[in-house]
This record gives sequence, structure tokens and C-alpha cells, in this order.
Amino acid sequence: MREEPLVPGVELLESMRSVGYSFNAAVADIVDNSIAAGARHIDVLADTVSGSYVCFFDDGSGMDASGARDALKLAGTRNFVRGETDLGRFGLGLKTASLSQGRRLTVLTKQGGVVTGLQWDLDFVLRTGNWSIRVLEEADIDAAPQSELIRRGDHGTLVIWESLDYLLASAHDVSGWMSSRLSELRNHLGLVFQRFLEGRDALRLSVNGIKVSRIDPFLEDNRRTQVSPVENVTIEGHPVVVEAFTLPHASDLTTSEGKREDLGARMREHQGFYVYRNRRLVSAGGWLGLAKQDELSKQTRVRVDIPPELDHHWQLDIKKSRVEPPQAFRQRFRQIIDQVKIKSTRIHTFRGRQSEPTDFTFLWKVIEDRNGFRYEVNSDHPSVQAVRSALPRGAAGTFENLLADLATCFPAADVYARMAGNQQREVPLLVETAIAARLRALRDGGAIDTEPARMSEALGKIEPFNSVENLRDLVTEVWKEV
Ligand SMILES: Nc1ncnc2c1ncn2[C@@H]1O[C@H](COP(=O)(O)OP(=O)(O)OP(=O)(O)O)[C@@H](O)[C@H]1O
Ligand SMILES: [Mg+2]
Repeated sequence: MREEPLVPGVELLESMRSVGYSFNAAVADIVDNSIAAGARHIDVLADTVSGSYVCFFDDGSGMDASGARDALKLAGTRNFVRGETDLGRFGLGLKTASLSQGRRLTVLTKQGGVVTGLQWDLDFVLRTGNWSIRVLEEADIDAAPQSELIRRGDHGTLVIWESLDYLLASAHDVSGWMSSRLSELRNHLGLVFQRFLEGRDALRLSVNGIKVSRIDPFLEDNRRTQVSPVENVTIEGHPVVVEAFTLPHASDLTTSEGKREDLGARMREHQGFYVYRNRRLVSAGGWLGLAKQDELSKQTRVRVDIPPELDHHWQLDIKKSRVEPPQAFRQRFRQIIDQVKIKSTRIHTFRGRQSEPTDFTFLWKVIEDRNGFRYEVNSDHPSVQAVRSALPRGAAGTFENLLADLATCFPAADVYARMAGNQQREVPLLVETAIAARLRALRDGGAIDTEPARMSEALGKIEPFNSVENLRDLVTEVWKEV
């Protein structure tokens, strides 16, 4: 037997681009490197006019000439012993993340006042057929976008992405497209690096001059958030720290919290584990295949801190955006899920109790007493009153019996089972003609104020009229009929 080297073709570089990085995940990988290099300031700068570049400038340690070459080598830093502040793992991020968005990656880095400039250019590699990088001369360095940044200070790194074919692949209007990518990016970075963006010596991170603010998925600043005791699960002598949070109900959110998508309509899909490696978020939400994302547990989020020593157990993917929990954790995690879900369910059902007097008229009332709770049709509701007043003599008793039967037979258990089982509830839409018919009944029953403006204001607080968009116009029309 003899051995012979089998060198990969240069096309490998092109294939590597397709590992499925999103723009956000790719940027986060570059930011990881800057944080690992001890940066205190990181600026993401992008050309939003023609989309010609996205670049990243940090004031970290920078690299010397040989360090810069290792950095550009595929898996060049793979066998490092990773410290607690190192967010890297594979020795691939800089190359794969960058080339997943564009065809050219330039690194200008400075250490001890000396600048080194190196470049991977896919077209150059494919053309020459060699695994060769370009070594930039002073004039090339000066010609690179934003290169004046690297001239300042004594150390730091500027990573530049150009020929952004993948990033711009589906952009019709480049400028609009870039602007919205950047605003999504701020949210993503605020969430992923939240724990670096807070505290006294917080990292200063900005995207095109706009500061990235921390986004706390657990709303620890909100008094109504319930926190479970911290739990340490030890594996091979390394602690995994688990902390469960039950988020406040929507009505207890602050105005700015209320605007967040992950706390509004999409709350349900954001429940689950938030897994952090070295305080950097690697997986946000979802129960990692251990439970379903129920409606009733939508308030639950669990923070899991894993140390890098346990990387091999967690099957962290190259993009650092997905993990799989080790077998040893699964059982314990299921128990944790059960405990926290019970808490979340309580918040939910407690809030269902809208029986307290409000200036809003519901069609169904929830009555609570010592024996429990029950639902009744609200006899004060104008629709009920309209029917009552339109009934012929003698039919009143039958109508009251019907109301009582509706209360007795309310299918609460069925509703509970379906909601808990994640079935979507379909609410039939009221068509305009149906609403008009109800309004006519109210008008003819003389149930409420007959002046259209006051009428529509009053109806805005009554189910189901409160959900009708053009209520005022409809009321005016119906009232014109007489
Ligand atoms: N901004 C930077 N400042 C200083 N050194 C850097 C910077 N970016 C990258 N490096 C160096 O380049 C190396 C390679 O980076 P790369 O992202 O490719 O791999 P990694 O961070 O080691 O692992 P991973 O694939 O998990 O990201 C890093 O380990 C680091 O030594
Ligand atoms: Mg990296």
C-alpha cells in the first residue's frame, strides 16, 4: 500500500458557499471573531446605495502577517484550545460566512502599527485554478472600501465583503433591500449579543452608525416576569446553567415591549430554549424536539448556558445557529419543560377571567365563585336585549331557557383540549351584510343611543362590533335607511 495526496479542487470554495448561512447569521460570525479578539467597538458599515460592500471594523487585537494568513486558511485555527471568551470553534467562520454572501473577502488587519492586507477572491481562484490568496500592496489597501479606518489606531481589523452576489440575489431595489436587511440585522445582533451589550463595560456595536441595543428575550427588567430558581446540570464536571422564565401577559408589557414581534403575534413560535455558548446566543426558541410549541406554554422561555468544553455533546452546527441537546440532558430537560409549562398555563388561564367589570361589553361572561368558574351569555349585551324586546309575549321564558342551556352546555373541555393540542381556532368573519342586519335589529329595538356618531362609539366597546373596521360608515348607512 502506498499513499498519495488527493488535493481538493478549487471548486470546493464555491461549494462551501452553500452551507445555508443567512445574512444575519453570517454577520454574527464575523462579530464573534471581533469579540474574541477583545474588541470594545465594532462598526458594521454597508453601502446602501449600490450594495457594493459590507464591512466590519473592530478595535480588537488585530493580527500580524502570519496570524492573518492562518486566519484566511480553511480550518487554519481548528485545533486551538478555546478559552472562555473565544466564540470560535471550527476555524471556518470568517471564510464560509463571508463567501456565503459575496465573491470576495478582504481582511485588512493591524498589529503593532503594521497593516497586513489579504484577500480571497473566488473569481481569481477559479480563473487560476490555484488555492491562492492575494497579498495586497499599500495601494491596493488604500483602494479598499473604508480602508481609512484601518489607518487609525495601533491595532484592529477591517473585514470587507464585496461582489455581494448571494446577498443581493433577490434584491430588485438594492437600496430598499439593503436598508431593510440592516434594520433586521440590528434586531438580530441585539438579541444574539445581548449579554455583551449590557453592563458597565458594554461592547459598542453599531450598524451604519446606528447603535445596536440589547434585546432581552426574557424581559428580566419587567417586574411581571416570573423567574424560576437557577438549576445546574453537571456533565463531565462542567456545569450547564438552566433558568426558566415565564413572561408577563400581553397587558403587562411596556409600550416598547408591546411593539416587539416576538412578544406579539409571533410569541408562540418564540417559546422554548434559548441556548447560549460563552454568553452568545446560538439557538433561539423551540423545544429542541422535546416538546410541542403549545398555545398554553407560549409565555415560557428557558435560558441554557453551555460551556464550550461541552461543544462535542451539543452538536453545534457550523453556522452556530442550531444545537442538539445531548442524550444525557434530554430526560432532565423534559422535566424542566413540564414544570415551567404548568406555570405558563396558569398565567394564561388566569387571564381568561375577564369577568371583572370593565367598560367593555363581552357576549360571554365568566363567573367565578367558590365552586369554580362558568361561562354565561351576558344578558346585558345589546344583541340579547334586542332579541328579548322583539319577542312576542309568552316566548320570553323559552328564550331564558335557551340562555341557561347555552351556559350549561358550554363546551369548555373541548375548547381546552383543542387549544392545548395546538389546533388553530377559526373565527368566522362577519360579513358586512350580517353586521348591517344586527345594526338594524339594534336600531329597531331602540337598545342604544340613536345618534350615529354616539352609536358607533358605543358599539366600538361591544363584541362583536368592536372588531368591525368601518363600523362608523355602516352605522351611518343603516341609520339613513329610516
Ligand atoms: N476580527 C478579528 N480580529 C483578530 N483575529 C481574527 C479576527 N477575525 C478572525 N480572526 C482570527 O482568524 C481565525 C479564524 O477565524 P474563523 O472565524 O475562520 O474561525 P474561528 O473563529 O477560529 O472558528 P469558527 O469557524 O467557529 O468561527 C480566528 O481564530 C482568529 O484567530
Ligand atoms: Mg469565527
